[in-house]
Amino acid sequence: MSDRKIILAIDGPAGAGKSTIAKRLAARLGFLYIDTGAMYRAVALWAIRGGVALNDSHKLDQLAAMAEIELAEQGTRVILNGEDITSLIRTQVLSDAASQVSALPGVRRALVDKQREMGAVQSVVMEGRDIGTNVFPKAQVKVYLDASVEVRAARRVRDLRAKGQPADLAVVAQEIRDRDNRDSTRADAPLRQAPDAAYLDTSLMSIEEVEEAILKIYRDRTSNGKG
Ligand code: DC
Repeated sequence: MSDRKIILAIDGPAGAGKSTIAKRLAARLGFLYIDTGAMYRAVALWAIRGGVALNDSHKLDQLAAMAEIELAEQGTRVILNGEDITSLIRTQVLSDAASQVSALPGVRRALVDKQREMGAVQSVVMEGRDIGTNVFPKAQVKVYLDASVEVRAARRVRDLRAKGQPADLAVVAQEIRDRDNRDSTRADAPLRQAPDAAYLDTSLMSIEEVEEAILKIYRDRTSNGKG
């Protein structure tokens, strides 16, 4: 591998398979995996614990700026102010709360700054909603992962149940629709496919197929002096 730092940006709605795929690609390519959604979840957790209303932009801007967020163990553990919060942030309450705080411009500014710093020091696979459009608009490789609401809800239910959390398909599907709507209609850096991102509908694809498809896109875009 050359010294050139590569940004592989993966964006898309909740449940499209971003985390699973991004982790595998990072391991395969030897890049750092960065889950930006976990950072919004961390700030939301801090707010909830402190009794801060999720629309209190003044307080939330301060929390986001002050939060020391570390993505440890190849990006798979989330540390907030020295505490491992990994298992606390994967709940429906935190999904919804993260979506709410992520609409606040000051919160986004603080976390986007942190994300740009992380991507400046080494090659990364970074997943989120606005990586290819806003955080790293010049990323060499951009992928927009999508899937039908039904498939995404079924995946979410399976993940939640695997963690011992109760989950109802219809409720989860409605929560995903609400979150899609909020994430894609907010004024600041909404969920959107970058014009130069490759679009992949993963509804009928296996994890291995998605991984291979993205590796092919990666090779195409980083070879022949194009990247
Ligand atoms: O990817 P996730 O489900 O963990 O993200 C939680 C919320 O955080 C998501 O609903 C919207 C927000 N988010 C964002 O606005 N921008 C990102 N780059 C990542 C997540």
